[in-house]
Amino acid sequence: MTIINKQIVLASRPEGTPREENFRLVKTPLRKIREGEFLVRNLYVSLDAGFRNWMNEGSGDNVLPAMELDAPVMGLTLGRVTESRHPDFRPGDLLMVRRAWEEYSICDAGEWSSRLPEDPPFPLSYYLGILGDTGLSAYFGLTDIGKPQPGETVLVSAAGGAVGSVAGQIANLKGARTVGIAGSDEKCRRLEIELGYDQGINRRGAGGLDGAIAEACPQGIDVYFDNVGGSTLQAALAHLAPGARIVLCGAITSYGATEPQPGPSNLFELITKEARMEGFMCHFRHDRYDEARGQLGEWLQSGQLKAVEYMLDGIENTARAFCEMFEGRNFGKTVVRVFPDG
Ligand SMILES: NC(=O)c1ccc[n+]([C@@H]2O[C@H](COP(=O)([O-])OP(=O)(O)OC[C@H]3O[C@@H](n4cnc5c(N)ncnc54)[C@H](OP(=O)(O)O)[C@@H]3O)[C@@H](O)[C@H]2O)c1
Repeated sequence: MTIINKQIVLASRPEGTPREENFRLVKTPLRKIREGEFLVRNLYVSLDAGFRNWMNEGSGDNVLPAMELDAPVMGLTLGRVTESRHPDFRPGDLLMVRRAWEEYSICDAGEWSSRLPEDPPFPLSYYLGILGDTGLSAYFGLTDIGKPQPGETVLVSAAGGAVGSVAGQIANLKGARTVGIAGSDEKCRRLEIELGYDQGINRRGAGGLDGAIAEACPQGIDVYFDNVGGSTLQAALAHLAPGARIVLCGAITSYGATEPQPGPSNLFELITKEARMEGFMCHFRHDRYDEARGQLGEWLQSGQLKAVEYMLDGIENTARAFCEMFEGRNFGKTVVRVFPDG
């Protein structure tokens, strides 16, 4: 019996914030796999803010090509191999693959994939979130660049998001004082109650971000974990403590920009505070995934770390889940459970 594959394609290039009408559901009969290929039934789709960048015309770079119109939207999924004509992949294998927002993916060995343990000790969706790209980014950004020390002040932007929710908790574990930026008072409360941030700051608050940061970080910021760039980065730079470290993890404010965005005008702060600012790509640390997953897994098991997820059901809801992330409606990792038996 032919399987009908549901896929979400890029119907038009988003201008600024992505909208659901930029995406379209298509149903296509799944062709038979060929020699060297294997079929993955996707169980979860990961929604990652960074992929917004490659929806722009001509956005291809050293990491990924620009997405094509009317082609399935590129993304990370977690699924099980159901058929294989490749010697290295067997039915039953659990894989994370970089393919697309679709129920079934036909893959070959050229596709980026990462194998999960046969009997994973944590819920599968965790491997796309806290034990996946976003959790690992929080770990690498803080372990390699931020290096928070006990008593230091750590500021995190998009603090309730997939990366930010883990970054704040790790900084807490290291004994730092944590301040998180989020988009509403309600989310700030959740930062403090559910994630253990010492203080939440509403980036839309009436008094402005600059004053709120000054008030929340009276000794200055020792580590700024930046997920958004733009005016938030500029505001954080104005309140650095001497020797501060700025972790450049993401720049969500610029992914949808149609024109080049102005850079921070206060980089001189880096000089006078003898601060350093460094970017990183999680994927380029592939050889250290076991180390990172091992540590995050230990903290999860001991209850020192909590996984927070924003989960929607059904491939039809993937575009909605992605757009809601840019509206800040998510709390924790945004993920879609593809099949009800996920
Ligand atoms: N370097 C790497 O290897 C790597 C790997 C993974 C992810 N990242 C980056 O990490 C960042 C977070 O990604 P994620 O997937 O975890 O998303 P996320 O934080 O779960 O969701 C995005 C959050 O950003 C905030 N936001 C949206 N638009 C904003 C704006 N214009 N200004 C300020 N904040 C805005 C919203 O929260 P509020 O409304 O509450 O502020 C929203 O919840 C992204 O920049 C992503 O590219 C980097």
